Amino acid sequence: MKAIRIHEFGGPEVMKIEEVERPLAQPDEILVKMYASGVNPADYVVRQGGNEILKPFLKLPLGLGLDGAGEIAEIGSEVIGFKKGDKVYGIPNFLSGTYAEFIAAKANQFAIMPNNVSFNEAGAIPSCALMAWNGMDLGQVGAGQRVLIHGAAGGIGSLALQFAKAKGAYVIGAASKSNFEFLRQLGADEVIDYNDENFAGLLHHIDVVFDASPVFNEDARMMMAGALKEHGRFVSVQLPYPFSEAILEKLGNKHAEAKMIRRQLDVAPSLTDIAKLIEEGKVRIVISKVYPMEKAAEAHVELESKHVRGKIVLEIRKEDGKYEAD
Ligand SMILES: NC(=O)c1ccc[n+]([C@@H]2O[C@H](COP(=O)([O-])OP(=O)(O)OC[C@H]3O[C@@H](n4cnc5c(N)ncnc54)[C@H](OP(=O)(O)O)[C@@H]3O)[C@@H](O)[C@H]2O)c1
Repeated sequence: MKAIRIHEFGGPEVMKIEEVERPLAQPDEILVKMYASGVNPADYVVRQGGNEILKPFLKLPLGLGLDGAGEIAEIGSEVIGFKKGDKVYGIPNFLSGTYAEFIAAKANQFAIMPNNVSFNEAGAIPSCALMAWNGMDLGQVGAGQRVLIHGAAGGIGSLALQFAKAKGAYVIGAASKSNFEFLRQLGADEVIDYNDENFAGLLHHIDVVFDASPVFNEDARMMMAGALKEHGRFVSVQLPYPFSEAILEKLGNKHAEAKMIRRQLDVAPSLTDIAKLIEEGKVRIVISKVYPMEKAAEAHVELESKHVRGKIVLEIRKEDGKYEAD
């Protein structure tokens, strides 16, 4: 089967499509015939050699890709709840590499994908959606609360905005001006420009800050912390950038909490709940561009611009035909 691998760390050019052995499903695993893989910031971070958290785990050669969607081709003898041919989406073990024609994964790392989306749309959902979903839990987002989503037009942000709306919150989306209309279409009640020099002055009485920006900025964090109400929650996706003492002090003074999102291991129950919301039409996935597997390097260049609207996806196979010799 074909898979994208790297034999050295570096720029997008280090990604190569190679012929590798098709994995076998172990007794507790499913073999997924992949149709689409999400393209996520972790993919270019791994490709570049990792950050302080990832570095110790990265041993070359490596496959790339965190999440995706496909059809179950084989089922391990101990797996229950799935059958061959089921359309699934999920997040296999970290570094399994979803930029591949087949993936073997523990059955609890996948769930039945929403029945009203394409494989390309489903493949874009799992990792971002779970970050946004867990963020809602950590932030205890509920009806009537004022929730600020920072980086609201991106992969995680565009889903967090919709999840918060689905929970009945009043949602303020922060993005570049060019994305204001997009955020309104997703349901934002208010939109603000994080580039505005008066950013701090635009923020008021926030119950929950959900920071989904791909750019770490201590000043922006400080301004958002300043806008939180007493007992508010500041939730961040930026695991490599712990909250500074100064931010913790500012939050502590108003009995507000700082929370860093981590993804849980048993992802299937959350992915099933998310599929339901999508099937009910309460949440939609926005794909700004689909790249064929051969153009993974271009997909990375685009994502590294840090201004993708919604998601970009790597198409491993066409829905209506075969991409390679099965
Ligand atoms: N994707 C995942 O599954 C995942 C998992 C764990 C952690 N993370 C981390 O979460 C972060 C976001 O991931 P993502 O997948 O949502 O990234 P993404 O889709 O690449 O984010 C793009 C968005 O970031 C916004 N943005 C760019 N610069 C910004 C700034 N200075 N301040 C605020 N927003 C800014 C852009 O908004 P405008 O174009 O409107 O300026 C754009 O809409 C990354 O740091 C990533 O490492 C991601």
